[in-house]
Amino acid sequence: MIKKAILPVAGLGTRFLPASKSIPKEMVTVVDRPAIEYVIKEAVAAGIEEIILVTHSSKASIENYFDRNFELETTLENKKKFDLLKEITEILPKHVSVISVRQPQPLGLGHAVLCAKSVVGEEGFAVLLPDVLVKENSTENDLTRMIQRFDASKAAQIMVEAVPEHLVDQYGIVDVAHSPKEGESIVMQGIVEKPAVDKAPSNLSVVGRYVLPAKIMQLLEQTPKGAGNEIQLTDAIAALQKLENVEAYRMKGQTFDCGSKIGYLKAVLHYGVEHPKLGEEFKQLIQELNL
Ligand code: G1P
Repeated sequence: MIKKAILPVAGLGTRFLPASKSIPKEMVTVVDRPAIEYVIKEAVAAGIEEIILVTHSSKASIENYFDRNFELETTLENKKKFDLLKEITEILPKHVSVISVRQPQPLGLGHAVLCAKSVVGEEGFAVLLPDVLVKENSTENDLTRMIQRFDASKAAQIMVEAVPEHLVDQYGIVDVAHSPKEGESIVMQGIVEKPAVDKAPSNLSVVGRYVLPAKIMQLLEQTPKGAGNEIQLTDAIAALQKLENVEAYRMKGQTFDCGSKIGYLKAVLHYGVEHPKLGEEFKQLIQELNL
């Protein structure tokens, strides 16, 4: 079973400036909690018990958020604010641990994943890119289905969704014989990072959720710099695919790219209207705007 997940959070978030100038983009709030909490909860819902943050010196507030804050807890307890105390102490279940390793230089996503090599050891692991929020349409999440499929087939799972043709140059794109149904996986023939629009093998884009075998680490060690002069995870997956089956898993849920400002606003709207306490009032506010 896959129990470990790597979350690369060392990026400086230039797409989200000025907000990300002095707070990590992952800590920008979507409704009432930081974006990264949604991603970690998604991992925990899929059975992940160890979260490995690949981080940077400017991102300590992420580690602090998932740590205890004794002073705050004591203050809330003394003031008998037990509801808030429960909220901040139950962000993660007790069996889940969050550890961090540093990415000393910004050499790309592949390099970030490689920084966690000694922590994952010989086990398979998941990778979740925290810019993207995945909102499920059903109770069982897509990552759970990918992990089940990995356990059954032993093939790496790469989550994909269809994007408009003119956007393919912004993503990793997979080459498949045909598009699988939502919730299903298909063996891929190839994968390429940010292809030109007229060279893309399909319009199925890599969403930022991966389930990978430990041997991807050896492949990453041999991966030269690729697109954007960075060590690309996509290139190591392409090398893995030459050795064994790698599958594209087509997601059922909906994605929000919180690394972009408009994607972030869309996420706030969607998560806001479904918030158990604020949702109804928020919907009314939107109606009052009468745009
Ligand atoms: C990364 C991956 C890319 C993937 C994308 C999803 O790119 O390299 O394959 O499609 O995340 O968000 P980035 O957005 O970091 O440039």
